Amino acid sequence: MRKKNLLISLFSLMMVIVLSACTSNDGEASVEDTNNGKDSNEQMNMNEDNENSMEENMNNSSSEGEMNNGSMGNGHMDHDDVVSLIDSTGENELNIPPVLKSDSNKGTEYTIRAQKGETEIFDGVQTKTYGYNDSFLGPMLQFEKGDTVKINLINELNENTTFHWHGLEVPGNDDGGPHNVLEPGEESTIEFEVTQEAATLWFHPHPEGKTSEQVYNGLAGLIYIEDQNSKNLELPSEYGENDIPLIFQDRVFDDEKQLNYKAAANEDGTVGDTSLINGTLNPKLTVDKEKVRLRLLNGSNARNYTVKLNTEDAFVQIATDGGFLNEPVSMQEITLTPSERAEIVIDFSQVKTNEEIALVNEEGTTLLPFEITDQTGKTIDIPDEMNDFSVTEEEKNLPVTKEIELFGMMDQVTINGKKFDSERIDFTQEQGVTEVWEIYNKPDMMGGMIHPFHIHGAQFKILSRNGEAPPENERGWKDSFSVAPDETVKIAIQFKNKGIHMFHCHILEHEDNGMMGQVKVE
Ligand code: C2O
Ligand code: CU
Ligand code: CU
Repeated sequence: MRKKNLLISLFSLMMVIVLSACTSNDGEASVEDTNNGKDSNEQMNMNEDNENSMEENMNNSSSEGEMNNGSMGNGHMDHDDVVSLIDSTGENELNIPPVLKSDSNKGTEYTIRAQKGETEIFDGVQTKTYGYNDSFLGPMLQFEKGDTVKINLINELNENTTFHWHGLEVPGNDDGGPHNVLEPGEESTIEFEVTQEAATLWFHPHPEGKTSEQVYNGLAGLIYIEDQNSKNLELPSEYGENDIPLIFQDRVFDDEKQLNYKAAANEDGTVGDTSLINGTLNPKLTVDKEKVRLRLLNGSNARNYTVKLNTEDAFVQIATDGGFLNEPVSMQEITLTPSERAEIVIDFSQVKTNEEIALVNEEGTTLLPFEITDQTGKTIDIPDEMNDFSVTEEEKNLPVTKEIELFGMMDQVTINGKKFDSERIDFTQEQGVTEVWEIYNKPDMMGGMIHPFHIHGAQFKILSRNGEAPPENERGWKDSFSVAPDETVKIAIQFKNKGIHMFHCHILEHEDNGMMGQVKVE
């Protein structure tokens, strides 16, 4: 063990030397360039060269020493370091989160308890877990646009928590950020109107410095918003039948099959070798021969998930984080960074009953095998007009009024050189006014890493990535997006509601380490 650590340190040192030698010229040039003209072609080319040479270097070094596999140690997390997931054997039918019923006779009033429990994740073993109204994970909340929703929040944990509605457009006070703490045993009630369009959102805790551990232990649930449009569109929409949520999470289980966050924790984002979907270990999903809609949520602390079919067949993406795309986008694979969502539709109508078909990741690891019944389902033609999302000329021409620089790694992560301070307001913005934010991920000597950037209380539009239009499947409402090292992303954002809203990296350990700021909307 000692020897391994020494080797890793040596290896890291080598990488630093090699990388800084190879990037010092380009690196400096591109930083300067960034200040002069971000969108110049020259800049773009340099970045590409830079990236390529870095990647080459990574590959060379990692093939020399096979010491990166599984040994995350406390090292800086480059994607080469991330431990591989174990294939799903498909022995357990996927758990479908129950739909939360409203409190008796009260239409849109709900009660949510954060609680501790024990869950049989492995056969015959009880694992200590957290959950909402359940021992592990939580229910699905179904809201309709226009609803006034009342939620009673109860903290039954032995520690502080908050209830955050990720992607929901609500006033800062209802949003469950670090300011809305509930102490053990405490209750409170929030009430808000659902003003946004149909989307798949989620909820999770957000207490300062403890978000990662609480999510890791199991606190996460789903929110579905439906509206007139989503009801009119002819899409697979039978919950649990042909409209299935998939919450992707990875965990480490210790010898006693317990989640031991402290032992597993990595400052750069905790990853594990064990893949859970909706909390199910070794899941499979049984589907009829029909089109099936999958609502994907990357609910992991830090792992980026790339999802595709083992057959390499295409599927269509129909929705982003915050609503439908205008038209279905054909994809062969999709990458979601932590907290991102996407809805996709896979056509199983022509698949043979005994054909081996599964969702796999970029390494070919089986995440979710499908079992195809011999039932033929409804024939549904995915509509080619689903929404009227657009980026206006005016929005494209707005000047950048907020600049965000993401930097650092491990516990040295910052936004604009600063760590989170709950007493400090970093930005102000006027309610209902659209501004352009520019988010830049400044590389470090190790090359840097992807930071998934998220803003509370609003759905926004991605205007550009490194000066170019975003890919087709990002031309819809977003609340989280990836920012690669040395990448600049511009967004147009408007807050419908007042209050203090967080913005942060959604690698939960980075968030807890202070990679977070606050914008006050007035
Ligand atoms: Cu998923 Cu600050 O949130
Ligand atoms: Cu959020
Ligand atoms: Cu980060």
